[in-house]
Amino acid sequence: MNLVKRCVYGISILSLVSMNVQCKGEKKEEAAGTAQEAKVTDSVSIAKTVYGETEKGEKIDRYTLRNQKGMEVDIITYGGIITSLKVPNKAGKSEEVVIGFNSLEQYQKANPYFGALIGRFGNRIAKGKFTLDGKQYTLAINNDPNALHGGPEGFHRVVWTAEEAKSGDSASLKLKYVAKDGEEGYPGNLTVFVTYTLNKDNALDVLYEATTDKKTVLNLTQHSYFNLSSDFSKPILGHEITIDADKLVPVDATLIPTGKLTDVTNTPFDFRKPKAVGKDINASDDQLKKGLGYDHCWVLNNQGKGERFAASAYEPTSGRLLEVYTDQPGIQFYSGNFLDGTLPMRNGGTYAHRTGFCLETQHYPDSPNQKDFPTTVLNPGEKYKTKTTFKFSVK
Ligand code: GLA
Repeated sequence: MNLVKRCVYGISILSLVSMNVQCKGEKKEEAAGTAQEAKVTDSVSIAKTVYGETEKGEKIDRYTLRNQKGMEVDIITYGGIITSLKVPNKAGKSEEVVIGFNSLEQYQKANPYFGALIGRFGNRIAKGKFTLDGKQYTLAINNDPNALHGGPEGFHRVVWTAEEAKSGDSASLKLKYVAKDGEEGYPGNLTVFVTYTLNKDNALDVLYEATTDKKTVLNLTQHSYFNLSSDFSKPILGHEITIDADKLVPVDATLIPTGKLTDVTNTPFDFRKPKAVGKDINASDDQLKKGLGYDHCWVLNNQGKGERFAASAYEPTSGRLLEVYTDQPGIQFYSGNFLDGTLPMRNGGTYAHRTGFCLETQHYPDSPNQKDFPTTVLNPGEKYKTKTTFKFSVK
């Protein structure tokens, strides 16, 4: 009930004097309400610390977003990398659920995009070539014979500027990067904003926005490797995955789409009902052979309807459930097939085969060369805007 309505009610049952008192009292209540709201806002905090300095001497900060339900996310301005993400298990214990390193030095060495922002073009572009308005563009071949994840530096090895924001019961980190015309071979000066927002209910939103001054192609995503058990010495094969997709983007031996979309029915790629990663991963299947496991883009159902459920992962021993919502047409489910026990874990040991998985929301691979796929072209005057939510809970 608002203040006016409450005061009118006051006239009918109280004297003018008491109405006055009542209204004063109401005012107090309103004020108390505001104070309480401020407290709720404070329930999600954001704090900045110095993380280190790059080899080039750039200062890198780390921002920690934290809510009162035990979720905590660390993001650094180098590559917009999520270096840590902690969420409670079913016993209420908050633990690490993403692969990461414990130093900037390690992030600057070669690694498979741990926790990083991916751009200008996530996934592969065949032979590193595409054509726009009759002009051919050539990219570095960093995943022989193709271009992968925006090039050797991409957006994952550059320094983003950061701005903190708070609104309602959430806290945000807005990162900005301006990629120059010709950078990594792509046309157009591209201004990109990626805003990470943590809310009080254990959801992390990733909002991507971009504009260009020349026609270009764009496919942004986030490359966190999850292991919801928090035991990074164990493979993720027991996680039960759901993907709301009737179709898959099949690939050739170099992981470039064949151009067809195939039905997942009666294949190891049917995740329409929850299924353990390990159930079919070793099945005799041509696509699994090509991907060395799951490393494919699924064609999400319900396209063009805004943000909707895309995929989930449930880990039975911890009880942790991750749900992914997105407005993107596809999702790359990658079962960590290239992890090979060479990269160091935070507290000793190494990340072995399939000890983390990625759910990368995106457009289909090689879209710039595939005329039947949804377009990834961004024109001057247009605004690229897309959102993905990673929501954590237990069951
Ligand atoms: C993506 C690709 C994989 C692999 C990883 C990084 O998910 O689809 O093939 O390159 O990145 O290793």
